[in-house]
Formats: sequence, structure tokens, C-alpha cells
Amino acid sequence: MAFPQSRPRRLRRTAALRALCRETILTPDDLVWPLFVEPGQGVRRPISAMPGQFRMSPDEAAKAAREAWDLGIQAVILFGIPPHKDAVGSAAYDRDGVVPQAIRRIRDAAPEMCVITDVCLCEYTDHGHCGLVDKGVVLNDATLELLAKEAVAHVKAGATMVAPSDMMDGRVAAIRDALDDEGYEDVAIMAYSAKYASAYYGPFREAAESTPAFGDRRAYQMDPPNALEALREVTLDEEEGADIIMVKPAGPYLDIVHMVRELTDLPVAAYQVSGEYSMIHAAGERGWVDLERVMMESLVGIKRAGADMILTYFAPEAARLLGRR
Ligand code: PBG
Ligand code: ZN
Repeated sequence: MAFPQSRPRRLRRTAALRALCRETILTPDDLVWPLFVEPGQGVRRPISAMPGQFRMSPDEAAKAAREAWDLGIQAVILFGIPPHKDAVGSAAYDRDGVVPQAIRRIRDAAPEMCVITDVCLCEYTDHGHCGLVDKGVVLNDATLELLAKEAVAHVKAGATMVAPSDMMDGRVAAIRDALDDEGYEDVAIMAYSAKYASAYYGPFREAAESTPAFGDRRAYQMDPPNALEALREVTLDEEEGADIIMVKPAGPYLDIVHMVRELTDLPVAAYQVSGEYSMIHAAGERGWVDLERVMMESLVGIKRAGADMILTYFAPEAARLLGRR
């Protein structure tokens, strides 16, 4: 039937009708809040390029996680900024490093929180690359062992799930083997499978002081124009034992989120990265857009594209709004 019999506007007349017909529902259950952890106590340092986000010591991170839990957020992902960086990222696999300390504190403050950890070397290396470097090249196979050690250190401290973001080939299998060897066959891996070499990571690198000292990450992260390659990455990670597949960034890559959703039966995560967050904030602060509405629209768009869960710095704000309704 066509107009005038068909009138889609009939179902948009009232808020109750719109609610009844809504196809995509965002809830705090969908959200994962990224936290930056640095050494010390009582530290809560604002990140200038990410308004409303902080670098926190383990005790403060635990407080923040508890507040998030009380808003309905059931998952956080941790990034560590170590006291010392070196060529091999030693602090990444220190069993008493900042991330293990934060995991233990969060476990106490919010015992049922899903604590995910980012597994990568770039926050811990003095050159800022995601793996070992030899003559300007990031070594793939030699890096795998260190990533596996890092994952084991996090899980020993109580992490619920590990999320490798390094983009080395074979890292999911290496981490899976290492975890299984230690008896952690029940600990899941969320793979950053389709992770693009994106300019949208700019504010994060300021927060984590992880800008590469030379070159860039294009020799290991994906080339933004590619989509089929993302499907190959997803298939490989599935074969290696990934439990959740991630696409990153989210907003500029919704086609990839959708394609990955069609390809895999595993849960799909999308990471709304620092640059996406900061740009929305900046426009909101200038009064050019309505911050709250653009925030919610960006998140529901990511879910509508096919994401089961969204990693986002907006998590507490969005949860607060969703709770109000
Ligand atoms: C580490 C890592 C990065 C992000 C998540 N894990 C930075 C990078 O790859 O340069 C980016 C997150 C964000 O921008 O919010 N490999
Ligand atoms: Zn990295």
C-alpha cells in the first residue's frame, strides 16, 4: 500500500507510540567504561583533551568503578600508565604493576564488575610502539610472548577478560595458549580484531603518553579504506579462539560493524574512541550541537549498526541519562 493509505507518521505521533515501536534500545548493560590508571594514591588528574575523563591512581579508579557500578555499568576496561617506560615494556607484565593493582582495588570496591584489561605494549614502551622494535620495525613473533605474559599478569590479578589491542598476527592464539597453560581456560578474550590506523586516537595518546617516538602504526593497524580485510581479521581471530570481536573506531566504521555482525555469531563490540568523544564534547561546549542528544544518538547508532556492546567514555553520562528517562 502506498500513500494516502500508508502513513508512517501515524506511529510517530506520541512519545508512548514511539517507545512502543522503537527497534533499538540502549541500556547501561551495553556500556564498557575505559579507565586510565597511573601510580600513586589519591591521584585524579584531568585529561585535557578528554573533558570529564581522568587519569587515576588505583584507589581512585576503584572509587570511580564503584560509582559506575551504582549507575548500572557492569564493565570497565583498564589502561595503565606505568612509572617507567623502557624498550621492552617491562612494566606491562609486572605482576604488581598499576593495572594489577587497580584490578585488585576494583575487585574489592565492586566485586561483581566485569574487569577487562587492554593488553598492549605501547603504553609501556619508551618508543611508544605496540611491540618490540628492531631497526625501526615492530617485530611480530617476538612480541607475542610479551603480550601473553601481560595477559597472564592481568588475569592472575583478577581480570575477568583480556583485550589485546596490539594488532600483531597470531596474538589471540598466543594469549589463549598462555592462559590455558596457567589454568585460565575459562577467561575470555575480547579481540580488537578490526582495529584501524586512525587519527581518532589522538586524545588517547595524550592521556596514555603513548604517541610513537618515530613513525606511526600503519605497518600493523589496518588501512582505513579496507573492509574485506576486516572480515579476514575477524575470521582469523575466531579461529584463534577469540570470544568477542571488536571493531575500532566505531562511528566512522559503522559499515564494518554491520558487516562483522553479519559474518560472526560471536558478540560484537565497538569502541567509540577518544577522538569521537572529544569531538562531540568540543562541539557541545561551543553550543554548536546538543551534547546529550548527540551523545545518545551516536551510541544508539553504533548499537543499531550491530554492536552488542560499546566501549565509550560517555558510559557514566549515558547511564545517568538512561536511568533518568
Ligand atoms: C593501545 C590502544 C589505543 C587505543 C586503545 N588501545 C591507542 C592506539 O592504538 O594508538 C585507542 C583508544 C582511544 O582512542 O580511545 N594500542
Ligand atoms: Zn598499542
